[in-house]
Amino acid sequence: MKNIDSKSHLRGESIYLDDIPELQGTLFGLVYNSPIAHAKNIKINYKKAKELSGVIKILTYKDIPGKNQIGAIIPDEPLFAESEVHFIGQPIALIVAESERIARNAKKLIEFSADELTAITDPKIAKKNKSFILPPRTFKLGKIEKGKEKSEYIIKGTSETGGQEHLYLETQGSYAVPKENGALTLYSSTQGATSVQKITSQILGISMNQIEVDVNRLGGGFGGKEDQATPWAVMVSLAAFLLKKPVKMILSRHDDMRMTGKRHPYSAEYTLGLSKDLKIQFYEVEFIQDAGASSDLSPAIMERTLFHAAGSYFIPNTKIKVFSCRTNTPPNTAFRGFGAPQAFFALESAIQQAADEIGINAYEIQYTNLLQENDEFPYGQIATQVEAKHSWKVANKFFSIKKQFEKVRKFNNENTKLKKGIAITPLCFGISFTNTMMNHARALVHIYQDGSVGISTGAIEMGQGVNTKMKQVATHIFGISIDKIKIETTNTTRVANTSPTAASSGADLNGNAVKIACTDLLKRLKQTASEILEVKSNKIKIIDGFVYKNNIKTEITWNKLINTAFINKVKLSEKGHYLTPEIWFDKTKEKGHPFAYHVYGTAISTVTLDTIRGIYDIDSVEIVHDFGQSMNLLIDKGQIEGALIQGIGWLTMEEIRFDKGGRLLANSLSSYKVPDINSVPKYVKVKALKTKGHKHAILKSKAVGEPPFIYGLGVYFAVLDAIKAYNPNFKPDFVAPMTHEKAFMSLSRK
Ligand code: MTE
Ligand code: HPA
Ligand code: MOS
Repeated sequence: MKNIDSKSHLRGESIYLDDIPELQGTLFGLVYNSPIAHAKNIKINYKKAKELSGVIKILTYKDIPGKNQIGAIIPDEPLFAESEVHFIGQPIALIVAESERIARNAKKLIEFSADELTAITDPKIAKKNKSFILPPRTFKLGKIEKGKEKSEYIIKGTSETGGQEHLYLETQGSYAVPKENGALTLYSSTQGATSVQKITSQILGISMNQIEVDVNRLGGGFGGKEDQATPWAVMVSLAAFLLKKPVKMILSRHDDMRMTGKRHPYSAEYTLGLSKDLKIQFYEVEFIQDAGASSDLSPAIMERTLFHAAGSYFIPNTKIKVFSCRTNTPPNTAFRGFGAPQAFFALESAIQQAADEIGINAYEIQYTNLLQENDEFPYGQIATQVEAKHSWKVANKFFSIKKQFEKVRKFNNENTKLKKGIAITPLCFGISFTNTMMNHARALVHIYQDGSVGISTGAIEMGQGVNTKMKQVATHIFGISIDKIKIETTNTTRVANTSPTAASSGADLNGNAVKIACTDLLKRLKQTASEILEVKSNKIKIIDGFVYKNNIKTEITWNKLINTAFINKVKLSEKGHYLTPEIWFDKTKEKGHPFAYHVYGTAISTVTLDTIRGIYDIDSVEIVHDFGQSMNLLIDKGQIEGALIQGIGWLTMEEIRFDKGGRLLANSLSSYKVPDINSVPKYVKVKALKTKGHKHAILKSKAVGEPPFIYGLGVYFAVLDAIKAYNPNFKPDFVAPMTHEKAFMSLSRK
């Protein structure tokens, strides 16, 4: 089944935030934000700006009726700066004007002065200053000392990964419409409708039931709208609430890039120990996470780093520590993988370094240590239904790993101008919000008297195809065709207290809620059919829109059945509530069973490096992926391809840099390079691993959104491999991204 949105996307008919028709009298917001990275005693003169014709009002923290606080986990972030600023781009005021253009002109008239303070942009300096978001956390398994005794090889090293701009096609934005008695309807391009509702209620000092948040779809989120869609929505709400006029704001690309947080840069210091037979005996690692100026989701992201530090391997003795450090840059936030890719990169770097020092290929260490059934993760969960070796073996079968390595070696022996490189990336990713209490969802299903079905859930469509999957669940349960079903907007008045659509769990959580609601409805409908057909209801089935009695098709259509049920006053609406079973985590011991299940896979990446220019092409990425029993392979393969390219971009070309004063250098699409059609792999092949699926995955179809981002790692390591083939003296620094410039510099034979 195709993504149900493909037609309206292709015709340009899909409705994003900016496509919502504006009501008469709509005003426009523009954020006035800090021009410097760190200062106290800020003094701002709005006089001239206020006098500009068409400027309605300039709102500051003084206009906030509730609390000037938007921190979701730790309350350390004001909506509008008061006397201090902590990063360039920090919101200070909202200019509300008759048009965006007038607001832009007004912005230029605002005068700013302050006592400038030193800006810290290096998280290592922040660590030295003990400037932490929260105390460091440590996960431990076994004893490092014991591992050391058993180790023949001990490798020490460091690695570093950079930030990443989300670059959702649709920038951040929101539209607030005032309703009766101080209530508001709020359209927002957010992954977290309830977060927007909750923070708005706190800022305005009104209760949550006064605020209806409605989301039709997002032009991409990638984590960047899990938490950071909130401030803009809250700002327009504040304006609409105070001025009693509809207020809209959409960030320009430039403002979006300057003001919003990105993927967290991480550095790692590791020690890895291996015995003679290449079994990893211990892994000790300390991560420094660059959180930016306030906590945002950093504590949760830190947690996922801890959970994924052992990658796809069993390591009997581990000690993993993460420091979250405060710097004067925009608060970094959720981004596909949520701290796990950074952890994977450190361990794969350590393994690569070990292989180089021992003089073997990294895949020997990788394969030897892959997770197996009943192995223990560093957080105490026991691995079951493990597909690590299985996916590797299937990858070997389909893509002949050994032969490919030989081909690369042969090519490199015969060529000097071009060198090839190859690397393998094993994947193991835990599915569930690491914060156990977030793993629940609800759905509201109406069957209308004409037989059509309307479904509301907490899931937000952001291109990942969750709405298509919700339809599939309902069709599957009801036994009717897909065109009878409509997926409604995500709306906090219809479905309350939602978790954000994130952690790759959108389809699992909301799909299971849909399944529960539909199953309840079906039970009642079967009862109605059993009365018409005078047979026990367990003899009734609905297939392709017809009622079956004792497996024999009857004349009764779905529409007829619904009509009869309606006349009989049967309840044709149902709510489903789902919570992931079996998961728990004890933070005092840092042990538990936090994940419903894990997703596995193996990728083989090959590149060709031009040793004169230092530029490289990605020849192929071949993947065997554990989809479980995919309910939509077309969508799921699309997710793999998108995540792969996003991962490749992160590690090969996307470079977030700030100057010493905390100014973002790559603040537009002319200075920030993302993969385009010329830089993607020439060949991508995704094969589905045949498995049973998992009982907690919706219809046994495993979560797919974030895990394949990790496959991007292979390209980085394949480039290292190609450089080594040319320059045997090359010692990688394991700093990403491996830009073409960097590859070029690595070729000099010193
Ligand atoms: N795919 C598209 N096209 N656009 C997106 O914004 N976000 C990713 C992933 N795939 C994203 C996407 C992220 S970060 C997550 S967590 C999941 O989708 C969320 O959706 P799901 O839980 O329904 O998989
Ligand atoms: N993953 C993604 N987003 C989240 C999580 C998580 O585990 N927890 C809170 N937000
Ligand atoms: Mo995804 S980073 O969990 O929105």
